[in-house]
Amino acid sequence: MGGYRAIYRRSLEDPEGFWAAAAERISWERRWDRVLDASRAPFYRWFVGGRLNSCYNAVDRHVEAGHGDRLALVYDSAMTGEVRRLTYRELRDEVALFAGALRRQGVGQGDRVIIYMPMVPEAVVAMLACARIGAIHSVVFGGFAARELATRIDDARPKLILSASCGLEPGKTVAYKPLLDEAIAIARHKPERCLILQRPELEAPLVPGRDRDWYEARAEAEPVDCVPVAATDPLYILYTSGTTGQPKGIVRDNGGHAVALFWTMKNIYGVEPGEAFWAASDIGWVVGHSYIVYGPLFHGNTTILYEGKPVGTPDPGAFWRVIAQHDVKALFTAPTAFRAIKREDPEGAHMRRYDLSGFRTLFLAGERCDPDTLLWAQEKLGVPVIDHWWQTETGWAICANPIGIEQLPIKPGSPSVPMPGYDVRVLDDAGRELPPGELGAIVVKLPLPPGTLPTLWNADQRYKDAYLSRYPGFYLTGDAGYRDEDGYLYVMTRTDDVINVAGHRLSTGALEEVIAAHPDVAECAVIGVADELKGELPLAFVVLKAGVDRDREAIKAELVKRVREGIGPVAAFRLVAIVARLPKTRSGKILRGTMKKIADSRPWRMPATIDDPAILDEITAALKELGYARTPSLEA
Ligand code: COA
Ligand code: AMP
Repeated sequence: MGGYRAIYRRSLEDPEGFWAAAAERISWERRWDRVLDASRAPFYRWFVGGRLNSCYNAVDRHVEAGHGDRLALVYDSAMTGEVRRLTYRELRDEVALFAGALRRQGVGQGDRVIIYMPMVPEAVVAMLACARIGAIHSVVFGGFAARELATRIDDARPKLILSASCGLEPGKTVAYKPLLDEAIAIARHKPERCLILQRPELEAPLVPGRDRDWYEARAEAEPVDCVPVAATDPLYILYTSGTTGQPKGIVRDNGGHAVALFWTMKNIYGVEPGEAFWAASDIGWVVGHSYIVYGPLFHGNTTILYEGKPVGTPDPGAFWRVIAQHDVKALFTAPTAFRAIKREDPEGAHMRRYDLSGFRTLFLAGERCDPDTLLWAQEKLGVPVIDHWWQTETGWAICANPIGIEQLPIKPGSPSVPMPGYDVRVLDDAGRELPPGELGAIVVKLPLPPGTLPTLWNADQRYKDAYLSRYPGFYLTGDAGYRDEDGYLYVMTRTDDVINVAGHRLSTGALEEVIAAHPDVAECAVIGVADELKGELPLAFVVLKAGVDRDREAIKAELVKRVREGIGPVAAFRLVAIVARLPKTRSGKILRGTMKKIADSRPWRMPATIDDPAILDEITAALKELGYARTPSLEA
């Protein structure tokens, strides 16, 4: 097959041949007519005419191939101490039965099902059960508040919602059911039914006529078979933050997704079928979709579903305990998790308590990986640490170090090189390619490879506007960075209003909407300020309406509460600065970039277009009061 360069070149020169060969590893009910359909460019479709079922590929076919006794899923809850193991046969039987329960609730092919659940095996079973009957799941992260859930309910218009009575967070039980009830009350679209998983830690009252008990509904059901769907049919919708408060419904198809994810397991992650693979993320994020659920299962691996944190459950040895106990070969997590571990156990003493001899590789993604964290992990663990870069939109890595093909030299600070099918370019404002070392917009030449988003849910035009119109012929990643002489990419920052808090992607626009709705607020601006642990934290500058003379601390507390209730605790919003004015250009654009540089104590320049430079003194003083802008320096 050749090394990385030969494989990469072939994927760009002959994409159809390359992906058709990869597609041989997937079970098709009907083979495709065309590998790539470009007839509606810039909308591209992969494996047109093909029919398959993603659940069959993830579960049933491994049983049929004689691997029914192999472990498919290990649920490990650091919150309750429970460990539950499901073989591929047990998982198939569970999924087939629960798919029958979904069908009894009237869910059919193409219907949407929202899953708002904690990290329990039932959530994975639910996702696969939807796939089994051709329903489209949309998982909503449990750390989002009712309003965010309501927005997704209105956009996806689900027939059914699957939820649980509670989630377990360190030191507290998070009641999910009141959030669900509130979301349904806010939403214009009302789902016909909800199935609620009662967890013993906190049972929830059910709404008569609407809610059913999960296990009661399951007990009535008969198992059902997999329904083949078109390769181009949606498997799921996953909402992600964009520039506005309206999240983007990323659509994932069935065919391209299965082909691409299968390919990544060996080539990028270097694991063999039967080995344990662990993505310490949440099923509410794309990492959870691709690498807790679909990728490892398509490939016949054992996947680990971990309910817990890297630290505090009970100590910074939690990850090493799981690796040793379940013989994990590869771990995928966010750098922030390692920063948390490093902070509590700088010497790596907890690693020495466990036998990690079987552990081979650590993968990091979700946010920029600072070289210190990567080097610390590498030194303490003594295994390669691979930074790789991707997005909810792409579903799998745009850039990585493909250790299953060949391990390229690791350069800390870079997620390495483009993966097959991704023709990555760095452009200037005018769309000209930049030479190595120069920072610009990172784009990918169309078509994107299989597994990436074909469009946004019910929003073709928004898909074009958001991703394809800035540089015609290219997909806009929203990230900026540069390449070095060896073709390694460095992803430095977002070019839009998206911030990254502990690996969670948030929209400053959405935060601003919630804050601006406070009756005392005239206007506001939210920026992401650098944080040692979480990468970034949201900080709001707030201008009060004229005449408001209430206690400022009370207003700040109300704003914090509003964001917690409007967006969710995951925003970790605590920093508010009440200022007299916001710095703007003469045309009225808020100078968020300048404020961010001042906050992060980075060198900044006085913008030539600023309306009134004196405002920045007040901004700096307010930031200093919050502990930021320690040593800002105005460049000459
Ligand atoms: N359901 C309900 N609430 C949740 C939640 C969930 N699924 N996930 C997080 N929250 C809440 C937390 O309880 C916390 O609430 P609090 O403000 O009352 O304490 C808040 O959201 C922030 O949570 P978290 O982001 O987990 O921060 P933390 O300070 O508790 O822990 C880390 C810090 C670094 C340990 C943690 O962020 C972490 O493990 N990060 C890894 C992130 C990750 O896996 N990202 C996925 C991309 S690969
Ligand atoms: P999400 O869609 O939530 O996965 O977030 C995707 C965004 O996270 C990317 O567009 C980047 O801004 C950031 N990101 C993810 N992985 C990396 C990485 N390895 N290096 C730098 N930024 C990253």
